[in-house]
Amino acid sequence: MKIGFIGCGNMGSAMIGGILKKRIFQKEEIIVSNLTEEGSRRSREKLGVMTTLDNCEVVRRAKLVILAVKPQYYEEVLNEVKGELTEKHMIVGIAPGKTLAWLEEKCGTPLKAVRFMPNTPALVGEGMTGVCFNERVTDEEITQIREITDSFGRTEIVPERLMDAVGAVSGCSPAFVFMLVEAMADAAVALGMSRKQAYSFGAQAVLGSAKMVLETGLHPGELKDMVTSPAGTTIEGVRTLEKAGFRSAMFEALLAAAEKGKKL
Ligand SMILES: NC(=O)c1ccc[n+]([C@@H]2O[C@H](COP(=O)([O-])OP(=O)(O)OC[C@H]3O[C@@H](n4cnc5c(N)ncnc54)[C@H](OP(=O)(O)O)[C@@H]3O)[C@@H](O)[C@H]2O)c1
Repeated sequence: MKIGFIGCGNMGSAMIGGILKKRIFQKEEIIVSNLTEEGSRRSREKLGVMTTLDNCEVVRRAKLVILAVKPQYYEEVLNEVKGELTEKHMIVGIAPGKTLAWLEEKCGTPLKAVRFMPNTPALVGEGMTGVCFNERVTDEEITQIREITDSFGRTEIVPERLMDAVGAVSGCSPAFVFMLVEAMADAAVALGMSRKQAYSFGAQAVLGSAKMVLETGLHPGELKDMVTSPAGTTIEGVRTLEKAGFRSAMFEALLAAAEKGKKL
């Protein structure tokens, strides 16, 4: 067994989906635990991986263990498995606010600790994951970790102090973008377009714009300027957004999200 997941809901399945698709590990090399038999059946049917209801079995069988339960269950789960953890284990936390020091302390044994901060676009293979780790993790292991997180999107290694920023700019921001697409679609509907087409236009505009930022390497302001012809329609929209405090609203939303992340 190469990798184990304690908890395999939305995020666990998204990560395993990417790992299988990119053939980082085979189904037979992955073990997951769930709380319920129903959860286990879902993981077997959807992913074809080995399942158990015993979290300790995951830790006994896999040296790389990802904690993919909700944050409020982290402590309970670590208390349950800590007797099985050894210094050969690498434990990966994916919950906001659960620091490397917290993980190390709750594991009760000096081991390799890693944090992933993935986001929901991982569900469609376009996730963005911030990763940090403690000093026990080797360069070779970092390469392996990157392979895993790259399998469901992109990866950036960051110092732990930036994990709240990562949570805000990539963990939470999909919600803000969904609000943006919804609002754009509402306007298109008001202008007579069908809902279905409105979501298609709005979402594809976001996808294409994001690709332009990532693939051209140009400054977002420069890309904006390329769309805004003199005395044209777009600059009128830009003026309206500035008047409504669009940039400031986004700025404050991310700072508020990061602030909340620090308190979790
Ligand atoms: N969703 C996101 O956008 C996102 C982004 C970044 C990080 N995260 C983090 O990802 C983690 C998982 O979130 P999620 O959205 O994937 O949650 P989820 O869909 O609710 O899945 C939770 C999983 O944990 C299992 N579980 C619950 N208690 C357990 C226990 N005591 N032992 C073993 N398994 C147990 C559940 O099993 P059953 O199915 O049997 O109940 C289920 O498979 C959270 O820590 C969250 O903060 C999520």
